[in-house]
Amino acid sequence: MLDTERIRRDFPILDTGIIYMDTAATSLTPEPVLEAVMDYYRRYNANVGRGVHRLTRIATEAYEDARDKVAKFIGARTHELVFTKNTTEGINTIASGLHLQKGDKVVISLLEHHSNLLPWLRAKHRGVDIQVVKPSTGNRSRCELTVSDFEDAIDPDTRIVAISHVSNALGTILPVREISKLCHENDALLLVDAAQSVPHLPVDVKELGCDFMAFSGHKMLAPTGIGGLYIREQLMPEIEPLTVGGGAVETASFVDYRLKTANERFESGTPDISGAIGLGAAVDYLNAVGMGNIKVYEDGLTKRLIEGLKTVHGVELYGYDDDDARIGTVSFNIAGKNPDDVALMLDDKAGIIVRSGHHCCIPLMHYLGIEGTVRASLYIYNTGSEVDKLLELVETVA
Ligand code: ALA
Repeated sequence: MLDTERIRRDFPILDTGIIYMDTAATSLTPEPVLEAVMDYYRRYNANVGRGVHRLTRIATEAYEDARDKVAKFIGARTHELVFTKNTTEGINTIASGLHLQKGDKVVISLLEHHSNLLPWLRAKHRGVDIQVVKPSTGNRSRCELTVSDFEDAIDPDTRIVAISHVSNALGTILPVREISKLCHENDALLLVDAAQSVPHLPVDVKELGCDFMAFSGHKMLAPTGIGGLYIREQLMPEIEPLTVGGGAVETASFVDYRLKTANERFESGTPDISGAIGLGAAVDYLNAVGMGNIKVYEDGLTKRLIEGLKTVHGVELYGYDDDDARIGTVSFNIAGKNPDDVALMLDDKAGIIVRSGHHCCIPLMHYLGIEGTVRASLYIYNTGSEVDKLLELVETVA
């Protein structure tokens, strides 16, 4: 079990009395992470990988140490981990860096966030074919995507499959391991948008069998502005970086340049040094709590929330309501109520912070026949009594 009381003491923002259930948008930041960021600015504020003075040596060591921690956290080798701004930047790096050509096919799913849709749509004008996998069976509001739905879509023309590990709107966990087998059988690449999985489940890129994986620090206790992109070692030299410049080159003349081959080729310009160090501290924090423990704890809260919502007349739930293939991101509507009005009311009456709207998934909302949902997303600092408070308010509104 998690020592929630102890954990909550690390998040001073909770002293304001809010009930924070918007981690899927951005998580709260604990004191040890804030301390690590401040420590960089207070004690060794310097650029990294440039020069030889004492401060740059300390900063470079801290920055690379953070890379090592974050890489290990997702089962990657240190040099396979590129620091990015966020998940969006990671996906854009691959979508543009692969140089997709006419005749290439990209397979995505109905559940994708705009960040894993728009970068691929951009390639459409070059004649790239985009295929969207939708559920072939089941209740529409459950949005159940099965391996056989992917089997029908992935074929030898598929250059890359780009899918969420966990849906940001519905909390559904996709069968990524099985999808990766289909990719291997068809010689297709696999990119995983792991923005909503890395903070909540044990994730290992080698076990998943993916080629690329993008995630964001700010959804896993780190500051905003820092993220990670895993690129399988053998593919690194083939991917054209989004930007080129200082820090990324082996050598340069007035005529040409030669880029480095590993992570550095993707990190031109001064990086978010304090953010990377903060992300390293966030990984330490999550490791100390234990990713397995986090999943079990969240499962308990999620069950309590979903079972409670199911008893409220007029509540419609989206995504899975009854099994383990989900995380604690729960989307619902109350009949006759606009999701924004419900979210405002929850905030006004009880300081409950939830997201409302389309969650950057407009095509998914259209499929569901709605404009948006109310979304409560749970994490290590939430408690059973907070879930009960939310249920009480939902019941009152309904
Ligand atoms: N992608 C974030 C969310 O789902 C912002 O809210």
